[in-house]
Amino acid sequence: MASLTIRKLDDAVKAYLRLRSAGNGRSVEEEVRVILGELVQGRPDPAAPTAAMAPPADGPAGPSARSHAAAQASVTLIIGGGIAAFKSLELIRRLKERHVDVRCVLTKAAQQFVTPLSASALSHERVYTDLFDPGSEFDAGHIRLARECDLIVVAPATADLMAKMAHGHADDLASAILLAANKPILLAPAMNPLMWNNPATRRNVLQLRRDGVIMIGPAAGEMAEANEAGVGRMSEAVEIAAAAVDILRPPRPRPLAGKRVLITAGPTHEPIDPVRYIANRSSGKQGFAIAAAAQAAGADVTLVSGPVELRDPAGVSVIRVESARDMLHRVEAALPADIAIFAAAVADWRVANEGEQKLKKTAAGMPPLQLVENPDILATISKLGERRPPLVIGFAAETEHLIDNAKAKIARKGCDWIVANDVSPASGVMGGDRNTVHLLQRDGKEVGVDEIKVDSWPVMTKEQVAAELVARIAKSLEKNS
Ligand code: C5P
Repeated sequence: MASLTIRKLDDAVKAYLRLRSAGNGRSVEEEVRVILGELVQGRPDPAAPTAAMAPPADGPAGPSARSHAAAQASVTLIIGGGIAAFKSLELIRRLKERHVDVRCVLTKAAQQFVTPLSASALSHERVYTDLFDPGSEFDAGHIRLARECDLIVVAPATADLMAKMAHGHADDLASAILLAANKPILLAPAMNPLMWNNPATRRNVLQLRRDGVIMIGPAAGEMAEANEAGVGRMSEAVEIAAAAVDILRPPRPRPLAGKRVLITAGPTHEPIDPVRYIANRSSGKQGFAIAAAAQAAGADVTLVSGPVELRDPAGVSVIRVESARDMLHRVEAALPADIAIFAAAVADWRVANEGEQKLKKTAAGMPPLQLVENPDILATISKLGERRPPLVIGFAAETEHLIDNAKAKIARKGCDWIVANDVSPASGVMGGDRNTVHLLQRDGKEVGVDEIKVDSWPVMTKEQVAAELVARIAKSLEKNS
């Protein structure tokens, strides 16, 4: 049988084999055997580079000869010279897993730690190292590397590279790219803790932050140097990749930008005496989820919540209250609002004869509790007149005749929409994570009960219900604008 001499293969084929075998951790001969085996079995290797990822053929191999699929996000990854550079090889893999194209630039010092060949094999792209490389600089390649990407990541960002950036140096390819950049820059600093804490580095970090550079890390931990620990370790590759993808993600639509949303959530506690109270099983999850969804949609959100075991949603002003009367006062004080959503399970009654001291057991038997009706916050706000928010949404938690009761509630309370849900014990809604709801809408104040539109949603998580409700609100604002 004929034998194959790799040396005699075409140069482009050899280059391809070298890259592919390095990427797969095999010898070139082994790689050839794998390729031939695949051919015979007709099973393509998913790890094989596609035509788009194949190394550039002969000819001007500057950044302009780039072959990645145009639709993918792309990162120029500058690898600085530090021991953490080995983690940058993993970073290339992590970015590619997330469908990000990566073109690597290695500083001179970085090449002491990782080779251009490894970076090239993992990125399936040519690697750039030299500002005065005739192959890429014939058409100002450093400008292209700075601009023909969506994000520049520097990992590891050494103290020296950061100092050069802060002072606008451009005496090598990496610093020239950073100075020419018109794209966001993400730095993953890595250095000895003494270097990180040095006043010169502190000044540079401050300057770079002021210049709009984004930083991830450094983390605290053990250093490569024996017996040294502190802040200076480069963040892990997965964390840097996640931060990069976050920056690359297109900005979320913010349909409620500029709108003030007021939400109530949770139960209320109505005191019997200083230690006892009347409560209900509301967890507050649905109201908190709506607050988070409205905030994510760009609204300025105030959440007035009864006692619950939930963390404040990020970016939301949370006001914690106990009783229905406290809740009403805080809601009134939070007006005006464009949209008010009353998801709280407000106690209908409170104890009129609240004990100033703890009630005692007596021979006379149980102390009589006199109940009085609480203010109805939803009805009060719905009937406010001029200060009434233009869109008022209530909730109807029912255990029977759900739709009929909810329709009657819209009319009685004067709100615009009602989110009706079955809270019978069998539904598991109270305290649970899922919800089955019906959205009842009346458009215009004078519409009769029969003309209320009912839209039944499938079983969803409370977060999904919140997102859908926010989407409906955004749509109705758009329609009425
Ligand atoms: O009358 P019911 O409690 O079923 O009404 C439920 C709706 O009214 C919910 O939106 C709830 O937040 C609101 N409500 C209120 N104040 C009350 C009672 C209910 O805001 N005192």
